[in-house]
Amino acid sequence: MDITLVGSINIDLVYRVPYIVNSGETLHSATYSVHFGGKGANQAVTAGQLGANVHFIGKVGKDDFGEQAINNLQDKGVYVDSIRKEGATGQAMIQVTDAGDNAIVLFSGANFLVTPKQIEQEAAIISSSKALLLQLEIPLDAVEKAVEIASQHGKIVILNPAPFQRLPDSLLKNITFITPNETELAQLTGIEVTTEENIRSACRLLLDKGVGTVVVTLGSRGSFYMNHKESGWVQALRVDTIDTTGAGDAFNGALAVALCRGKSLRSSVVFATKVAAFVVTQMGAQPLIPESILK
Ligand code: RIB
Repeated sequence: MDITLVGSINIDLVYRVPYIVNSGETLHSATYSVHFGGKGANQAVTAGQLGANVHFIGKVGKDDFGEQAINNLQDKGVYVDSIRKEGATGQAMIQVTDAGDNAIVLFSGANFLVTPKQIEQEAAIISSSKALLLQLEIPLDAVEKAVEIASQHGKIVILNPAPFQRLPDSLLKNITFITPNETELAQLTGIEVTTEENIRSACRLLLDKGVGTVVVTLGSRGSFYMNHKESGWVQALRVDTIDTTGAGDAFNGALAVALCRGKSLRSSVVFATKVAAFVVTQMGAQPLIPESILK
């Protein structure tokens, strides 16, 4: 197995709106559509489409959404034997504006029923993969257990710290790559990230805690990477944005694949940028990635 993904699976209920609704207001939605989502599932589907063998550890509900979400992952080539069923499938209510920006209300459901025990039962999968890819839409103790197993076996650990949860130093020291966006970087470090100087200070703080490499995504400003040996910027690509939902997930899935294939840090970030740019030109968080992107 190339990648074990420990993470979330959601059904996304997407409403197209002129702007994000205000408190106390009722707003008409021009279109409504249902998509497969969840940061974990989106990242797994991206990595799978890019040719990686991905094994998913997570939870869906004992309901039709859960069944459909598992079938979707399986159709896209992801191994689903370690997805358990309990409670109700996670859902995300997503408003997408005409400019492609979004606001998300998340019902975690079964995702928050993933336990350290479930992770422990899958230790053999984690220890036989090249890399572990995680996000923070499942309980932190489950994340910590997976990272502990992977680091004991010297695996590459890629943590996308989204949505933000406070992370203990004992976890950070075992992370090979952390991939916050600018808001998450500020939340993780308590440093306002407006200039290159304070982005560097925030990255340095995470490196000092033992993180191997920090890759920060900054939307239209591109991304910035930094470790003890190198640092640099990769420019964002100019595309016609339809829906930014899942762009960060595509970035992470693609980054994991490129790193597993032994590409350099810079070319991995360039590749991830290209894949994420394609995703924002489509509705939904899991669009099919065309062959041309792989070249
Ligand atoms: O990152 C986008 C994802 O966040 C959506 O698919 C939604 O399910 C939420 O988890």
